[in-house]
Amino acid sequence: MPGVFKETRVLQKISMDQDNFLNFWKGLSSRVDSHLNNFLQHQEGVPNRLLDAMRYSVLAPGKRLRPMLVLLTSDALGFENTNPWPAACAVEFIHAYSLIHDDLPAMDDDDLRRGRPTCHRVYGEALAILAGDALLTKAFEILAKSYPPLASAECCLELAKGAGAGGMVGGQVEDLAWEGKPGVRADDHPKTANINHLKTLHDKKTGALIRASLKLGAIVSFASQNQKPPEDLLQILDNYGQNIGLAFQVTDDLLDVLGKCESAGKRVGKDAQKGKLTYPGLLGIEQSKLLAADLCKDAQNLASQLGPNAAPLVDLAEYLVSRDH
Ligand code: IPE
Ligand code: IPE
Ligand code: MG
Ligand code: MG
Ligand code: MG
Repeated sequence: MPGVFKETRVLQKISMDQDNFLNFWKGLSSRVDSHLNNFLQHQEGVPNRLLDAMRYSVLAPGKRLRPMLVLLTSDALGFENTNPWPAACAVEFIHAYSLIHDDLPAMDDDDLRRGRPTCHRVYGEALAILAGDALLTKAFEILAKSYPPLASAECCLELAKGAGAGGMVGGQVEDLAWEGKPGVRADDHPKTANINHLKTLHDKKTGALIRASLKLGAIVSFASQNQKPPEDLLQILDNYGQNIGLAFQVTDDLLDVLGKCESAGKRVGKDAQKGKLTYPGLLGIEQSKLLAADLCKDAQNLASQLGPNAAPLVDLAEYLVSRDH
């Protein structure tokens, strides 16, 4: 039996109702929080104010979706002696950095994140940029020092692909280009968006890091057996990730239109105001909801193929499209 969920193993065998799932999520995310906290202790040479800014952003109450994906994937595979926690923290550090930078005046210019003032509002733009840089770097440091060399290298590669220019960062560039941000939009950028443009944008901006999280869960799990995950498993995880990634960002876009600032913990109504390319903007609200539901079903069918221990990945898909924050 794998070590991470010993106490919740019985719950995992059967698909939970959403209330049970939310409790399960809460319990697990507080364990993620304590691992994140451990990785963010004072270290020789690290300026205090930089560490404060990193801790402020990472330890704010986020959903911890990406760490959850690492943990649930690794648990679904069921190997003894797996340690998915460093990989789970590494993906959250990347995510936290991406949020800090996403909120900067040069990007989405937001003043509220996770129910609190954004990092740059508290620490200033310079330190916010540097806190993001430090978190990005820390993610790779953690992976490099926590696993055997081959598994570390594989994790670093997958995380770099998911987070980098062809993944999340590339998606952020396209997001700003469609918004018409001066200096980002190239002269040859298409003027009118179609559904394929939007899907590509979301796949990169949000889907790529989600898919990397699932892959890292598989890599660290098989590393405990001195093995690499088989291709057919990686393919199922990738397809699942594609579906939940898109469903997640469609829901994020819907929350910007339909959600409340108090529950979302961030400003709403900003996408349309800024002319962002979003699903509700392009397809309308009802079509976007239908799409999210379809993607959720497809994701659940894929997760079911991974066996009974993957039941939380089935429940997670539903949670992602029914959430209010
Ligand atoms: C927000 O991500 C940014 C997107 C990729 C849409 P989350 O909704 O996962 O944010 P937190 O981590 O819960 O704050
Ligand atoms: C951000 O997308 C995705 C990231 C890579 C951070 P959004 O700009 O839609 O995220 P929110 O709505 O500000 O959380
Ligand atoms: Mg953005
Ligand atoms: Mg934003
Ligand atoms: Mg958004």
